Amino acid sequence: MTRLLVVHHTPSPGTREMLERVVAGAGDPDIEGVDVVARPALSATVSDFLAADGYVFGTPANFGYMSGALKHFFDTVYYPSLDAVRGRPFALYVHGNNDTVGASAAVLKLTTGLALEQVAPVLEVTGDVGARDREACYDLGGTVAASLMG
Ligand SMILES: Cc1cc2nc3c(=O)[nH]c(=O)nc-3n(C[C@H](O)[C@H](O)[C@H](O)COP(=O)(O)O)c2cc1C
Repeated sequence: MTRLLVVHHTPSPGTREMLERVVAGAGDPDIEGVDVVARPALSATVSDFLAADGYVFGTPANFGYMSGALKHFFDTVYYPSLDAVRGRPFALYVHGNNDTVGASAAVLKLTTGLALEQVAPVLEVTGDVGARDREACYDLGGTVAASLMG
């Protein structure tokens, strides 16, 4: 069994909706042999990170950057995991009111440093989370989970 870890900061109903659709997509019935684990960014540990085979990161945009919670997660895991997670697949979703560019760029700098492999375009949603956004979240989760199937 391979493991997909969803590390997220979810402070609102909108971000909750995105998280739920990502997790649902990762658990699509067509995907077999992938265990999906979701952890709030403030509680995810180095062990969680190392024990997973692939990742979805989810964050709101806060002051033009990723949330402090997701930043705390990367602060915690970065050096202890360097080299150990190289090549593992990941995807990223970001929610904001009007500008998610800085938040996405900040996460991608860290995933580049960790040498993770991006397997889907960053999913950026601003404002209300609509039907298409929910579908895109589902697809995002499914894409990363499918990349882990043997
Ligand atoms: C402290 C703070 C800073 C924020 N900074 C940004 C920002 O730089 N860009 C942006 O698009 N939204 C920003 N927002 C909005 C959040 O991204 C938004 O509240 C979050 O994605 C949840 O959205 P929702 O309540 O519509 O679900 C900020 C919100 C807070 C509380």
